Amino acid sequence: MSTADAIEEFTDELKPGTKLLRGQYTIVGFLNAGGFGQTYLAKDSLDRTVVIKECFPGTLCSRSHLLVQARSRSHQEEFQLIVRLFMKEARRLASVQHPNIVGVHQVFEDNGTAYMVLDFIEGEDLLRILENDPQALGPQQIREMLRKLLHAIGCVHENSLLHRDISPDNILLDKSGNPILIDFGAARESATRASRVLSALQVVKDGYSPQEFYLAGGNQGPYSDMYSLGATFYHLLIGDAPPHSQSRLAALASKQADPYQPLLGRLSGYDDRFLAAIDKAMSVFPQDRHQSAQEWLESIEEAPRPEPPPATTSRETEIEISISKFVEETNKAILEEIQKAALTEQESKDEPEPTPRKEPYFEWQLEEDWLEEDEAEEQADQALSENETAGNEAYNDRLLSIDAASEMKGGFFTAIARILRLRPRS
Ligand SMILES: Nc1ncnc2c1ncn2[C@@H]1O[C@H](COP(=O)(O)OP(=O)(O)OP(=O)(O)O)[C@@H](O)[C@H]1O
Ligand SMILES: [Mg+2]
Repeated sequence: MSTADAIEEFTDELKPGTKLLRGQYTIVGFLNAGGFGQTYLAKDSLDRTVVIKECFPGTLCSRSHLLVQARSRSHQEEFQLIVRLFMKEARRLASVQHPNIVGVHQVFEDNGTAYMVLDFIEGEDLLRILENDPQALGPQQIREMLRKLLHAIGCVHENSLLHRDISPDNILLDKSGNPILIDFGAARESATRASRVLSALQVVKDGYSPQEFYLAGGNQGPYSDMYSLGATFYHLLIGDAPPHSQSRLAALASKQADPYQPLLGRLSGYDDRFLAAIDKAMSVFPQDRHQSAQEWLESIEEAPRPEPPPATTSRETEIEISISKFVEETNKAILEEIQKAALTEQESKDEPEPTPRKEPYFEWQLEEDWLEEDEAEEQADQALSENETAGNEAYNDRLLSIDAASEMKGGFFTAIARILRLRPRS
């Protein structure tokens, strides 16, 4: 065996130029190695740049030339299981299509393991952006990013998936400033549950993982991703990751203050609802968080503006206007009559023989069976009964006839009284 072969045998990543899937993909460079896999830059058969993730749980397997094998016979079964889980998760991820979620081109098996081909996102991850220039992202961009990511995560959850590893290093900002979610952690979590060897591997990220991720068998749901997204945005706003959820839980359990300092009231440039929503997402207990991305979105969305009034006046508005006019004129007429009555009373004091008043104007009593005598009265009653049966139209007509009547000064007050089925007290 040559030295070059020996080096090849003991290095784990694929070398540039390596062909995959019968030459369809060519490895261009190595990006990263994690506990569960390796990430590469590659070219597809049309010379487009793609990213390829290889299932490579290093504690369970090793590479001999290109072939990936279990480290020992006893690891064989577990390794096969992890490869199957990787394929299953990649297929599920491929079914989630959203502009803010990395697209999956293809999933295939080769070299004894599994591969996932992803869109290449030209840009940088949020962690690197923050490290290089903490002021790079302004409030407007951060707000817009959150809105987009909430839509994306909502879409993940609708497909019965959890991301499980939302953090600044797993969000890439593309050239147009669009945030793209990468690196779903759900497959890794299933792998640690399925494999004794992998169970020792960390599938939590301190500061970003909610406390239930640290508990064996802890319940996990969309609210868990809400916590990690909250922690990611806390980091974007404050410049540091929030305190570990476990230390927060421990503090609360021992009746000490939560080491998490709410954002509300601490920052300018963001409205209270926006900050309070991140604080809520970061609640230690799942039931206190938003239960869905939609719930979070609704809590920060602008309140709907009141509808402008319609350009043309509706029938109801016309009726309202008539009623107001009616009331206004009634009041005016009553006032006039009161003044007249007061004047008459004053004059009557001066006169030796007071003329008995036939029609008192301000004491009225209800009388259901009051029969009208004159024609105008009959018309008004007729309109009233029509209104009861035929609705607003007759009512409006009645009002209009009353308006007309009101112009006839003397008869107006009486007409109103009649319409209201009132009669003067005798
Ligand atoms: N689709 C992509 N486009 C461009 N760069 C990517 C893409 N996916 C991953 N990368 C780059 O590769 C790095 C590592 O990828 P990724 O986050 O998927 O895996 P990881 O965190 O290293 O591994 P593990 O899956 O084991 O946690 C990212 O930080 C990013 O810089
Ligand atoms: Mg990652």
